[in-house]
Order: sequence, then structure tokens, then C-alpha cells
Amino acid sequence: MDPEEPQSTKRTVNKAKESITEPQKKPAIRLRQMEIDDLAQVYHLGENLFKADETPTMYRTWDPFEVTTLFNSDTEFCLVAEDEEENLVGFALGTTIIKEHSAWKYGYLIWLGVEPSYQSRGVADKLFNRFKDLMLKEGVRMLMVDTPAENKRGLRFFEKMGFGPPRPHVYLTLNLAADQQKLKMKSQSNGNGNGNGNGHSHLVVLKKDSA
Ligand SMILES: CC(C)(COP(=O)(O)OP(=O)(O)OC[C@H]1O[C@@H](n2cnc3c(N)ncnc32)[C@H](O)[C@@H]1OP(=O)(O)O)[C@@H](O)C(=O)NCCC(=O)NCCS
Repeated sequence: MDPEEPQSTKRTVNKAKESITEPQKKPAIRLRQMEIDDLAQVYHLGENLFKADETPTMYRTWDPFEVTTLFNSDTEFCLVAEDEEENLVGFALGTTIIKEHSAWKYGYLIWLGVEPSYQSRGVADKLFNRFKDLMLKEGVRMLMVDTPAENKRGLRFFEKMGFGPPRPHVYLTLNLAADQQKLKMKSQSNGNGNGNGNGHSHLVVLKKDSA
């Protein structure tokens, strides 16, 4: 204590320090496994967080199938966070992967999101740690995440959780519209409307790539 310093100044300084260092009250957050009634809320929250113009990579686009498919295939690895009023404020959706010729089991946290007004309050921290516990129980030896390089906030979060170092992955596209057009014209000149050249129509089922 500095005896020269007037008492009133000290109080102001201390008060100012208190108000600066006072921790933000953490909301009471409850985590639970995702349920069927959560599907729409999770999807709409993700719509706000993973905007198509900010994450323009098709293979990483948020759409209803991301939620419904993961909920069907990996229910036990789909978690939600809710506040005291049972509002859904965050989610973590993931899966496990076993590679051929590898003894290792991998865990992949595919989507992690927190409602913007609840961010920076430890919600993702809780979700991630619960997800990690589930992965440990599953025998997973390595966890993976991916996010666009511009997502500084997300990267900082993952680094804080122990991930690293980020490895660059370049994403390229090739527009096949002109080739499609050529194919169509060729098929029409062959007198066949369905493009396979033998007059029979084939149903081609494209497997959705979740990588
Ligand atoms: C990334 C995200 C999930 C973090 O959620 P969150 O609940 O805000 O994270 P937490 O409060 O648990 O923060 C833990 C750490 O993350 C980092 N972090 C979180 N918010 C931050 C911010 N606004 N600025 C800088 N770092 C931040 C910090 O390192 C923080 O540590 P701290 O507690 O020492 O500050 C959230 O910002 C989000 O939903 N982002 C949009 C979706 C997304 O990018 N998902 C990840 C890829 S799928």
C-alpha cells in the first residue's frame, strides 16, 4: 500500500480492476445425446454458423443430410448443449473411422457449433471434452477436425484443445458443364435421350461423399 496515494484514488483503481477482471458468469449448460426432436434446431443453428458463402467447399457444405445422416449412423456421437431454459445452444456431430491396413481407430469431429450469443463462454469446450471422452471409450487413438483456413476462431479453439499443427489442404474445382453439354449433344445426335447409347435407362445412385 502506498501511503502517499489518496484513499479515494485507490478505491477507484481497485474497483476498475475488479470490473475488468470480474469473470463473465458462465451459463449452466447441460449436455446430452441428440434426440430426434433436436434435428430441426441443430440444422437451423448450423445454417447460421456455416454459411455457404463463407464455406464454399461442396464437400463441406452444411445441409439437412449432414444432420439426419449423422444422427442415423452415429447417434451416440451426436451431442447437444442446452441452457437452463432447455434452449439448444450448441452441438457436436462426429463419427469414428477405421482405415484398412491400420490398427488405429480414428475419431472425426465433423461439425461443432455454438449459438453466437453463447460463444466464448466455454460451451464448445464442454462439448468437445464430452466428445473426446466418448471417443476414448470407443478405443479411438487419434482425433481429426478440419475447418477453412480463414476460420481463425475455430482454429484457435482447436489449438487450445490440443490439436495441431494445422496442415494446409488445397481445394480445387473443375467445372464439367461444357463436357456435360458435349455429352448431351453427342447423345442427341445418336438419337438417344438418356445418354447411355443403348436405349435403356439406368438409374445411377451417387454415394454422398462425407469426407
Ligand atoms: C469455434 C466455436 C465452436 C467455439 O465455441 P465457443 O463456445 O465460443 O468456445 P469456448 O467458449 O469453449 O472457447 C474456448 C476457446 O476457444 C477460443 N475462442 C472462443 N471464442 C473466441 C473468440 N471470440 N475469439 C478468440 N478465441 C476464441 C479461445 O481460445 C477460447 O479459450 P478461452 O476460454 O481461453 O478464451 C464457435 O466459435 C463456433 O460455433 N464457431 C462457428 C462454427 C465453427 O467454426 N465450428 C468449428 C468448425 S466445425
